[in-house]
Amino acid sequence: MSRQTQAIIHADALLHNFKQLAAIAPQSHSMAVVKADAYGHGAVNVARILQHVSTRFAVAIIEEAIALRDAGITAPIVVLEGAHQAKECQMAYQHNCILVMHCEQQLLWLQACAEDKRPHIWLKVDSGMHRLGFGLNEITDIALRYKSLLSDETVIATHFACADDDDSNFTEQQRQRFEHSVAALGLPLSLANSPATVNWPNTRAHWNRLGVGVYGGSVSTHSTHNLALLPAMSLRSSILALREVAAGEGVGYGQTWVATKPSLIATVGIGYADGYPRHCPNGTPVLVRGQRASLVGRVSMDMITIDVTHIPQVKMGDTVELWGEHIAIGEVAQWAGTIDYELMTRVSQRVPRIVKYV
Ligand SMILES: Cc1ncc(COP(=O)(O)O)c(C=O)c1O
Repeated sequence: MSRQTQAIIHADALLHNFKQLAAIAPQSHSMAVVKADAYGHGAVNVARILQHVSTRFAVAIIEEAIALRDAGITAPIVVLEGAHQAKECQMAYQHNCILVMHCEQQLLWLQACAEDKRPHIWLKVDSGMHRLGFGLNEITDIALRYKSLLSDETVIATHFACADDDDSNFTEQQRQRFEHSVAALGLPLSLANSPATVNWPNTRAHWNRLGVGVYGGSVSTHSTHNLALLPAMSLRSSILALREVAAGEGVGYGQTWVATKPSLIATVGIGYADGYPRHCPNGTPVLVRGQRASLVGRVSMDMITIDVTHIPQVKMGDTVELWGEHIAIGEVAQWAGTIDYELMTRVSQRVPRIVKYV
């Protein structure tokens, strides 16, 4: 029997989520963010599934855009980090990519390209995240000085630091600073990621950049929205061994879990080399035969151990859901002390992605 560890990618969930997020912002255009291999879901698969509803895609780096082109994706692709080297301006032009320009060096590289071989650009403004972008006080001057590099595709963009936190007023502060600083330019704007699109209606502008929500991840700290986003990934494995463990016996590396009563322990074929977080503690939930069971003992490289004492008829080969339709990825992320973005993107290449269309 071959190893049954798989990430099932639900095409209907991806479409449903994208359409839901686009529908709450009918005045905006929406693009799916498919960087980091579409948050671990497989960028080519995801772009193929969404290409009829997402008229642009966004990636972090040009190599990710070229991989989509090689797979036949034709929609314009926004490269969120822009060029890391001068030659990427030419590559972006050849591959119909839009480069986000966040510093003057990038504009100088672009200026050095032949006039008829320049890619379209967006300009990025740092409105408070302090990661990338032109300053609020310099953006107008930059846009005017480099006017010849702008086109009818040019959008002025910014990114939020706290959009998933519906208690924080920082998103509103960033929005106001940003809109004030770019008002005179009269160019289309892009502010919202998926949390902002859901939580902060004022941030929905010309283009919304939808990432984690498309994959069914959490977009709000308080989940006050009434969108029903569906998990796009189910991470599954199966039981490869079962053993009875006597009270007082420890399980796994370091014996971090010790049975308090006679217990039935199942060994499951997934470990940290597959992207299941090693930080998951005893008690992290999994699903077996429709019932929740707990991780017991340390996560090893290729295996985990779970307590299935309470599950009747459990047997070798039974499917185990690590996260997906029944165990929310956000819940596992909390147990692991991280966020669902990290869990999604860390599912390793050893785990086959199986796309399900229904
Ligand atoms: C610049 C930018 N825009 C949009 C997104 C998508 O954000 P989210 O996944 O929170 O929707 C990201 C993701 O990190 C990003 O870096």
